[in-house]
Amino acid sequence: MTTYRALYVEEVAEKQFEQRITERDTADLPQGELLVRVHYSSLNFKDAMSAHGNPGVTRTFPHQPGIDAAGVVEESSSGDFKAGDEVIVTGYDLGMNTAGGLGQYIRIPAAWALQRPANLSLRASMQFGTAGLTAQLCINKLLQMGLTAQQGPVLVTGASGGVGSIAVALLASAGYTVVASSGKADQAEMLKRIGAAEVIDRAELSEPNKRPMLKERFAGAVDVAGGDTLANVIKSLQAGGSVACCGLVQSPAFDGTVLPFILRGVNLLGVDSVEIPLAAKQAAWEQLADSAELDGIAAINREISLDEVPGELRTLFGGGMKGHVLVNLDG
Ligand SMILES: NC(=O)c1ccc[n+]([C@@H]2O[C@H](COP(=O)([O-])OP(=O)(O)OC[C@H]3O[C@@H](n4cnc5c(N)ncnc54)[C@H](OP(=O)(O)O)[C@@H]3O)[C@@H](O)[C@H]2O)c1
Repeated sequence: MTTYRALYVEEVAEKQFEQRITERDTADLPQGELLVRVHYSSLNFKDAMSAHGNPGVTRTFPHQPGIDAAGVVEESSSGDFKAGDEVIVTGYDLGMNTAGGLGQYIRIPAAWALQRPANLSLRASMQFGTAGLTAQLCINKLLQMGLTAQQGPVLVTGASGGVGSIAVALLASAGYTVVASSGKADQAEMLKRIGAAEVIDRAELSEPNKRPMLKERFAGAVDVAGGDTLANVIKSLQAGGSVACCGLVQSPAFDGTVLPFILRGVNLLGVDSVEIPLAAKQAAWEQLADSAELDGIAAINREISLDEVPGELRTLFGGGMKGHVLVNLDG
């Protein structure tokens, strides 16, 4: 039994949730083959949803959120891992209904963990976190459709957020002309610094528009918004263009016609970073390791301590996130 510190969310009255940092005991963690001492985590929109009681993410409270964790195996009953192994754990049920990485310990099935790439430290891995993994998977989907830098600009929505800002940095470093859509005028300079060629106001794409098709503007897109934004992005793709759809910050529902699909042959590509096979995650983490030294990734990230997490999650929940937040659980 070991005492440790964690973010703990309790339902204090019906549908009223409180977040605090508290001491917990490893004896209270669920069964699992690996006990991992978590050194770094990162913040995601889903963590904010869990911490605010969203039943689509977390059904039972009290709860220790955190869909990301990077740490060292302390106990293992799996032949695939031994004490001292440095592992990355993202997605599956971590932080949803299983105690997550916003605590100094997690106990998990071995099938959720992967050995960190040799050239990616635990800290560097959480500078990406699930946001970076998702950005890389979105880009991979666009590449699978044959997107090249010569075809035209690539749009990133929610560009100042976690997935968006990392997608901007990765696409720009690969030579794409990136158009960043953001609702935060004060983030335009930062977005240009990390490689955006142009920054447009989120409102250009987020309003409902009855026209079935719009001017062809983008060869590809990474969309975190869903809703009317996704509908407008589909209508604004060049012939043969694709949008990788990974989020719902505006809305999970969207309206439209089949016309862009049948008249321009555009593609709507779904991206899931949570339940995909571990081997697919491992391959994307190897790609991210090659981008770890990018100036843009350092510029996007802010490091905070566990004590600062509740306040940051409130900002995140309100759509106010700027860049990506790395959580140092030893700080
Ligand atoms: N499919 C997957 O596996 C997967 C993985 C990770 C995340 N996600 C999803 O991807 C989305 C983004 O996650 P994240 O962690 O990057 O969140 P985040 O850090 O909060 O970033 C979201 C950004 O979206 C923009 N935004 C906020 N409200 C908006 C609205 N009403 N309409 C349009 N844009 C809005 C804001 O950027 P600007 O101010 O710059 O516009 C905000 O910073 C979430 O829906 C999350 O659940 C999915």
